[in-house]
Amino acid sequence: MSEMKSLFPQTQLNVNGHPLVYLDSAATSLKPKSVIQRVQSYYESEVANVHRGAHFFANQGTGFYEQAREVVAHFLNASSASEIIFTRGTTESLNLIAASYGSAKLNPGDEILLTQLEHHSNIVPWQMIAHKTGAKIRVADIDGNGNLDIASFKNQLTENTKIVSFLYVSNALGTVVPLKEMVALAKKVGAVIVVDAAQSITTIKTDVQKWGCDFLVFSGHKAFGPTGIGVLYGKQNLLNEMPPWQGGGSMIDQVSFSKTTYLSSPQRFEAGTPNVAGAIGLRAAIDFINEIGIDEISSKESQLMKLAIEELSAIDGLKIIGQPNKQMNVVSFELEGIHHGDLGALLDQQGVAVRVGHHCCQPLMSRLGILGTTRASFSIYNEEQDVERLVSAVRKAKEFF
Ligand code: ALA
Repeated sequence: MSEMKSLFPQTQLNVNGHPLVYLDSAATSLKPKSVIQRVQSYYESEVANVHRGAHFFANQGTGFYEQAREVVAHFLNASSASEIIFTRGTTESLNLIAASYGSAKLNPGDEILLTQLEHHSNIVPWQMIAHKTGAKIRVADIDGNGNLDIASFKNQLTENTKIVSFLYVSNALGTVVPLKEMVALAKKVGAVIVVDAAQSITTIKTDVQKWGCDFLVFSGHKAFGPTGIGVLYGKQNLLNEMPPWQGGGSMIDQVSFSKTTYLSSPQRFEAGTPNVAGAIGLRAAIDFINEIGIDEISSKESQLMKLAIEELSAIDGLKIIGQPNKQMNVVSFELEGIHHGDLGALLDQQGVAVRVGHHCCQPLMSRLGILGTTRASFSIYNEEQDVERLVSAVRKAKEFF
């Protein structure tokens, strides 16, 4: 076993009588020992609430929680830790922006521009706020290979576009969109830019200042961190203009029955006891990423993805779905005559874990004229042998049918 694999305990499991081949990192990454131990240590010997106690552990916990915020700010190159809000994940971060910024700023006739590649989490919150405010959703199209159609993106931008929200890397096809160009075009019409970095966070170095986005979101669990913790980055001036979206303890300045005043960001958006274990676990995950290096993670994933595309393409009746010019992390495919649900089950029987279905991208699947795909996704702990096991399991599944 490689040294890297040995850092991830789950890679040593057997499933259905076979050593596990985990090819579902786009759904959630496995966790390195350092992250597991950090969370365990918090629960075993540090547990306390934050921002409210008068005792040693409360102060220590508050320190660790706020240090985690600093580490995230540095990781994203935010200008200050107060631009970092801890949430439950990408989905909650997007809902927060839509519910708070959207409700305060959108008016009837305003437009929100999305792309055809988006995950449901970057569609539904916008639809909900559009419904409430009278704003309209517009969608930039893709081409037949799954590339974002930049001409369509440009055409959909109007003087009414107030928000442009798009993913950097598609979870379903692996498409990398031309972020720089999209940001420049969106800025020309004065729109606020939201980047969903859920799928890019471990493979493309994030730099919110260089990118020029106003908001950026990601989840801890896709970045070697715990589930239930995520990040919303927002420019300070925007965050402080935004109304709170949930009320409760820790987010207030003064409360009386006649009037309540609020703290500024980030506390304003973190009502109630936060996910302390999650935040310090996420910090351990970022330490892990920094230690390995994003270039190293990216080059390993890309090498495995290319090998998988090459070997899977050689199987008769197998069609790769989406062949974008720039692709990362995932390969999606269909096997003639076999429903993806059945294929997933046959792979599972051989110890190979993949995701099947619409990948929370039903509009994308409709655009491609399919119901779903089988998706293999790669991470730093995968090896060439894992690709070989996938390919041979697909071949066996084909024989079975
Ligand atoms: N968004 C995650 C995926 O693509 C859950 O599988």
